Amino acid sequence: MAQEAVRSVGPVVLLGAPGAGKGTQAKRIGARYGIPQISTGDLLRDNVQRGTALGVQARDVMARGELVSDDLVCDMVKDRLREADCRPGFILDGFPRTPAQAGWLDAFMEHEFFDNYRAGRCKPIVVLIDVDYNELLLRLTGRRTCLANGHIYNVHFQPPRFDEVCDVDGSKLVIRNDDREEVIRERLNAYERQTRPVAEYYQQQGRLFAVNGGLPADTVTERIFQEIESRA
Ligand code: AP5
Repeated sequence: MAQEAVRSVGPVVLLGAPGAGKGTQAKRIGARYGIPQISTGDLLRDNVQRGTALGVQARDVMARGELVSDDLVCDMVKDRLREADCRPGFILDGFPRTPAQAGWLDAFMEHEFFDNYRAGRCKPIVVLIDVDYNELLLRLTGRRTCLANGHIYNVHFQPPRFDEVCDVDGSKLVIRNDDREEVIRERLNAYERQTRPVAEYYQQQGRLFAVNGGLPADTVTERIFQEIESRA
């Protein structure tokens, strides 16, 4: 793909339930178009690990599988989107997750300047990755993540070559703290209650592209690339 086309991709929003494959696809989109993945879950986990004021407030909420408050998350996203690497575009993975966050994002995008704003591309491409409930349970209980760089595996569907070791960087693979069955159920409930309406919000505006996330990961990636490139 030509460099000019790469630079005009602009913002991409990935919606989907926990385990739908947002992180998996965000990494591939980022690698292809040279734009950063902004995962609110990763940013929050990093704050928890560093023991920041935000991390202290978020830790117990996340451990229960509930959503962190809109104000805290929007402030965190605002700071990240103002960094220079976001100017050509970015991928939001796990944000917005409530109608209030979606409204905040629209207002923010309208008032902030991005490189592609003048070309009328400040509205994000919104991709909904749709997956069955039972498949989500399997994916989340089977997920393993590499400690060093967040590479994602699944013991059922995408196992590493050697048990508990990352193929890419050799670091240890771990189970995420919130991938325990009782927490997974709460996360899936929170998705239905609070995030499903966000998909409806974008659908009503004719801005939603839905992809069957139950297909193999490579097929899902291909469909997302096609959609993005049809709009570039
Ligand atoms: P977050 O980190 O965003 O987690 P999540 O939304 O629950 O999503 P996951 O990371 O679990 O799944 P994913 O869709 O990225 O799937 P993945 O690609 O890993 O949020 C964590 C917590 O932070 C929240 O509960 C909340 O407390 C807080 N938070 C975050 N954002 C917030 C916000 N905006 N507002 C408030 N609170 C917020 O794939 C899953 C597995 O499936 C992997 O093992 C993968 O290998 C496998 N897989 C992927 N695609 C396929 C495929 N096509 N076929 C087979 N297997 C596949």
